[in-house]
Amino acid sequence: MNVVTDWTALIRDVPDYPKPGILFKDITPLLADHAAFTQVVDELGEGLAFDKVVGIEARGFILAAPVAYRSGAGFVPVRKEGKLPSETYEASYDLEYGSATIEVHADAFESGDRVLIVDDVLATGGTARAAVELVRRTGAQVVAVSFLMELSFLSGRDRLPGLEVRTLLTV
Ligand code: PRP
Repeated sequence: MNVVTDWTALIRDVPDYPKPGILFKDITPLLADHAAFTQVVDELGEGLAFDKVVGIEARGFILAAPVAYRSGAGFVPVRKEGKLPSETYEASYDLEYGSATIEVHADAFESGDRVLIVDDVLATGGTARAAVELVRRTGAQVVAVSFLMELSFLSGRDRLPGLEVRTLLTV
């Protein structure tokens, strides 16, 4: 494994984005650093056994696809409503104002597939909870949910009971 002294320093705070009062955690400097990017990809999947990696649109794709490639697993996209072309399952979750829906292809998994779900941030946990529901609805098994970052003050972990939840950085 590559060892980087402090990849967390490559996550940039952007105040008042996307709206006033929000401190946005920008991971693009980390992604642009090969050693840091490689290290976090390795850590997201390390020691886990899985057949498929789910990435959640959009930033989850950037992390999940290399985890799948690195591990010899397949990649499955969970996308926002209306983006997948074939038959889907869908799940909705609450946002601050309104709700959002995500989808997965109904035939994305083989029976008995072990699935690792990967995303960049665990905030309220609504997105990840919906992704877990989608995978389970197909008959596949979620073995773990891995995030680059956890915003612990939003208690997203509480919405993923009984699951292995891995976060590389807690804010
Ligand atoms: C962000 C982030 C997670 C989700 C976490 O995605 O990438 O998927 O929010 O929030 P939650 O735990 O409160 O559900 P966003 O919907 O902003 O999509 P993007 O990756 O396309 O920007």
